[in-house]
Amino acid sequence: MPNQRHSYFYPTRVEYGPGVAQELPLMVKETGFTKGLLVTDQGLESTGIPKKIRQVFYESGIELITFNDVKSNPTCNNVYNGTNLYKASGAQFIVALGGGSPMDVGKTIKVMATHDGPLEQYDDTLGGDKLIQNTMPPFYAIPTTAGTGSEVGRSSVITVKATNKKTIIFSPYMLPDIAILDPELTVGLPPGLTAATGVDAFVHNLEAYWVDAFHPFADGIALKGMALCFENLEKAVENGQDISARGNMLMGSSIGATAFQKGLGVNHSIAHALGVYYDIHHGLANAALLIGTTKYNIEDNKSRKRFESLGSIFGVKNDAGIILDIIESWLNRLKLPTDLKSFNIDKTDLEKIETYALSDPTCPTNSRKVQSGDIVRILERLI
Ligand SMILES: [Fe+2]
Repeated sequence: MPNQRHSYFYPTRVEYGPGVAQELPLMVKETGFTKGLLVTDQGLESTGIPKKIRQVFYESGIELITFNDVKSNPTCNNVYNGTNLYKASGAQFIVALGGGSPMDVGKTIKVMATHDGPLEQYDDTLGGDKLIQNTMPPFYAIPTTAGTGSEVGRSSVITVKATNKKTIIFSPYMLPDIAILDPELTVGLPPGLTAATGVDAFVHNLEAYWVDAFHPFADGIALKGMALCFENLEKAVENGQDISARGNMLMGSSIGATAFQKGLGVNHSIAHALGVYYDIHHGLANAALLIGTTKYNIEDNKSRKRFESLGSIFGVKNDAGIILDIIESWLNRLKLPTDLKSFNIDKTDLEKIETYALSDPTCPTNSRKVQSGDIVRILERLI
């Protein structure tokens, strides 16, 4: 609230533009460093993008050693192997290239490059953030998908083998030094993945805006982020080569992740649970849940009023039912699910999913206070 104390961290340097990734070596050169570690994955390696990045660095007299063994659900071993390579090669900075996983691994290598192991001691839920010092190497993030917005995030999620737990590592010092938003690097993303990742970005903006907290910075950009996603996602899905649409989606994605420093909501809480128990793609889960969780949220008076203020984003009057219909038909046009019928969710798992979702860090900031039993009811309507 305006009369209370708040801290805001919105300092990411963003370099945006078609082809801007080719300028990164010049930005790195200002630091005087001549050798870095490129963190990416095998899937992306097969597209040839990492090769091009290595080449532009090489032409600028900077060597990039590659660590491309990042798994889709990264483990601590990924981080340890990357850190060992970083140290053994004498690298001085890190470039992460790809989707959320290379970003997470890159950020965590940055931590482990100057901090002692084991990784689990930095578990954010156990206060590990206080152990992370600002002594880490420079870190540059180049996303090749528009969705997670990890390039402006200060945390990573790594599965720790010893505890078999998805562990959040967080520190304001993990924020990338520069986020490189180059829409040319996202044109190869297939339509289905473009839609699924893009709707994740949309939901970040929507849920962040919807959080009942005093954060005008986040509210302002979340409105713009929502509009960018709503206006451009279909264009990017229909024509992957549309650089404007791709660029606007990258912006909508970075804005979404910046905005959700304010918080997220129950849509993400359940999406995280469905990722753990059913391995459902995060973007698909967000799409499939969105109509159900929105109907639930707008049953609450205060929550509905805030949702109704979004009419102008969708070009309609401020009416919750009309806005909901617009979003549902948009998801249909994007060929995304609007319920969980196709995911074969077992009714006997609903309690388990609710328990996980209720303990997810995104749940307490939902626009409507989530009570025990609410998530089971939401899910019953969707399966
Ligand atoms: Fe998300």
